[in-house]
Amino acid sequence: MAATIFIARETVHREPRVAGSPETVKKMKALGLDVVIEAGAGELSRIPDPDFEKMGARIGSAADAAAADVVLKVRRPISAELAGYKPGAIVIATMDPYGNEGALAEMAGASLTTFAMELMPRITRAQSMDILSSQANLAGYQAVIDAASVYDRAMPMMMTAAGTVPAAKVFVMGAGVAGLQAIATARRLGAVVSATDVRPAAKEQVASLGAKFIAVEDEEFKAAETAAGYAKPMSAEYQAKQAALVAEHIAKQDIVITTALIPGRPAPRLVTRDMLKAMKSGSVAVDLAIERGGNIEGAVADQVTDVEGVKVIAYANVPGRVAASASLLYAKNLMTFLETLISKETRDVVVNPEDELVKATMLTHGGQIVHPNFVPQEG
Ligand code: NAI
Repeated sequence: MAATIFIARETVHREPRVAGSPETVKKMKALGLDVVIEAGAGELSRIPDPDFEKMGARIGSAADAAAADVVLKVRRPISAELAGYKPGAIVIATMDPYGNEGALAEMAGASLTTFAMELMPRITRAQSMDILSSQANLAGYQAVIDAASVYDRAMPMMMTAAGTVPAAKVFVMGAGVAGLQAIATARRLGAVVSATDVRPAAKEQVASLGAKFIAVEDEEFKAAETAAGYAKPMSAEYQAKQAALVAEHIAKQDIVITTALIPGRPAPRLVTRDMLKAMKSGSVAVDLAIERGGNIEGAVADQVTDVEGVKVIAYANVPGRVAASASLLYAKNLMTFLETLISKETRDVVVNPEDELVKATMLTHGGQIVHPNFVPQEG
C-alpha cells in the first residue's frame, strides 16, 4: 500500500518554516504517495493551504499524524506530538541531537524510526539533502542584511560632489557555508571584506570571493581540518595567538559577523568584550552561533544588545527570518532523502540499514537509540 506522508505545522520556537512545499508535494504525488498537510503549516512561509491542495495534498489536522507512515518536520517533535504518531512511523527533521539524549530516548520509547537531517554525510550523493548548507547559506546572507539595517552608515564607498563616504569594513569569522555567503553578500553591498577560519581550505575560498584572509597559519592550522571537512577544536595556545591577531584587526572594522561552529561542541568564544570596546562607536556585530552558546561575549539570544557601544545582533533561527526562501530549500532537502526510502515497486517505505545515508542519520529504531554517537554508555 502506498505510504502516507504527513507534513506537520511547527509548534515550537515560533518556527516559521515548513517541511513541505508545493514542488515537493507534487513530487511525492508523482511517486504515488498519499500526502496530508496540517492546515496552516505553510502560512508563515507564505504558502497558503490551497497551493498545497492544488498539487494533490489533502489538508488535515494534527490528528492525521496518527495515520502517517512518515512525518516530515522542521524541528524535533515534542512529547505531545510524539504521542500522536503511530508506533513504527518514520520522522524526518532537524533533531538537534547533541546534549538532548533524553529527547532521543523519548522518541525511541515511542517506537519511532527517526532521522536527523543535520547528520547527513557531506558526500556528492547527499549534497541535495544537506540542510546545514541550504539553511546556513541563507543565514549568512541574512546576517549581512541584519547588520546593514542597524548600521547607521552606508556600506559602499560613495564618491559624491558633497564628499566621499568610505566603504564599510566587514570582518567575517568562520568561512564555512554561512561565512562564505556573508562574504559574498557584503561584497555585493560594496563593503571591504576580510575573513578568518581555522581550516586551511578556507583560505583559497575566501580569496576567490575577493576578501582578505586573516589567520595565524602555523603547523596546527595546517592540520586543523577533519576528514569530514569540519573544524577541530584548537589548542589554548593557538587560540591565544589567534585572539591577539583578531583583536588588532577587529579594532579597525565596522561590522563583524561570526559563524564559527564545531559539530557537537559549544561554539568557540572568538570576540571578547575588550575587542568590542576597541571598535568605533556605532559598529555592529552579528553572532550567528548564538544557538550553540555564541561566538561573541555579551550576545543575548534574539536581541540587539549594546555591548561597549557596539550593537550586537544575535537572532536565533536566522534561516527562519527568510522563512519563505528557507522552507523551499529545506523541503527539497527532505524530499530528496525521502525518495531514497520509497520502494519504486510498492510505493511503500523501506529503510535499508546498510545504506550509508541511513547509517549516518538514523537516531532511533525498534525502540532503541541506534546512532553510535548517542547510544547510552554502559555503567
Ligand atoms: P560549520 O557550520 O560547522 O562551521 C562554520 C565555520 O566555522 C567553519 O568553516 C569552521 O571551520 C569555522 N570555525 C570553527 N572554529 C573556528 C574558530 N575558532 N575560528 C574561526 N573559524 C572557526 O561549517 P560548515 O559551514 O558546515 O562547513 C564546513 C565545511 O564543510 C566547509 O569546508 C564547507 O565548504 C564544507 N562543505 C562541504 C559540502 C560537501 O562537500 N557536500 C557541503 C557543505 C559544506
